Amino acid sequence: MMNAKGDSMIEYYARRAAEYERVYSKPERQVDLQTLKEFLGGVFACERVLEIACGTGYWTQFMAKSATAILATDFNSDVIDLARQKVFGACRVHFTEADAYSLDTVSGDYTAGFHGFWWSHLPKNKMRLFLSAFHSKLPTGAKVVMIDNQYVNGSSSPISRHDADGNTYQLRRLDDGSEHEVLKNFPSDEDIISSLAGFATEIGVRRLHYFWIAEYTTKEMPNTGFNLMNGR
Ligand SMILES: C[S@@+](CC[C@H](N)C(=O)[O-])C[C@H]1O[C@@H](n2cnc3c(N)ncnc32)[C@H](O)[C@@H]1O
Repeated sequence: MMNAKGDSMIEYYARRAAEYERVYSKPERQVDLQTLKEFLGGVFACERVLEIACGTGYWTQFMAKSATAILATDFNSDVIDLARQKVFGACRVHFTEADAYSLDTVSGDYTAGFHGFWWSHLPKNKMRLFLSAFHSKLPTGAKVVMIDNQYVNGSSSPISRHDADGNTYQLRRLDDGSEHEVLKNFPSDEDIISSLAGFATEIGVRRLHYFWIAEYTTKEMPNTGFNLMNGR
């Protein structure tokens, strides 16, 4: 897992592992969070799910209520160690370290894909590289669901800057006092739909107040021109 060494996002989430789930305690978000939990508890009924950037397995535990199997992946072993401690009932849940931009440690037979709060961290110039890697692990016709944050004044960390590619950033402080600049994008429906061009059909985007949910079906893999071995 050396190829992403020095990635500030990875280092930030490794340091944040133990305090990560506090974000799910924000009182104003509880109604929307309950909607997400109930939705994810049923949307993957009887599916074999590949999960990207699973973090502490917070969403894995809800998908496990009806999925048959889940391979939950993340770059950071620190968060996977926490995720393994969760309870998953009868669902067969396995974990593996994997860089989302290559997924070269992932093999298996999946019918569905999921990522939560990952899309917002994708730099625009790596979006298609990620989608190529992710979709290379899924069959045509697979169900994909993703969930992420809406920007809400007073609840979200303020945007600290924009870059030339149109990415936005936030400054975040951890319990140890360290401050981190984190790439965090808040896409419109059009942004999501255009990013998925060539990869997806039957795309639907639903907006809650604090979160968005997107669902689609995978299309046959396009020839993206990316070489997954060295295309970063
Ligand atoms: C916002 S957290 C989301 C965690 C979890 N999905 C959730 O919603 O609670 C983003 C996750 O992405 C992981 N991550 C960052 N860069 C990654 C990469 N290149 N490949 C895979 N995971 C990565 C971090 O370790 C972190 O767990």
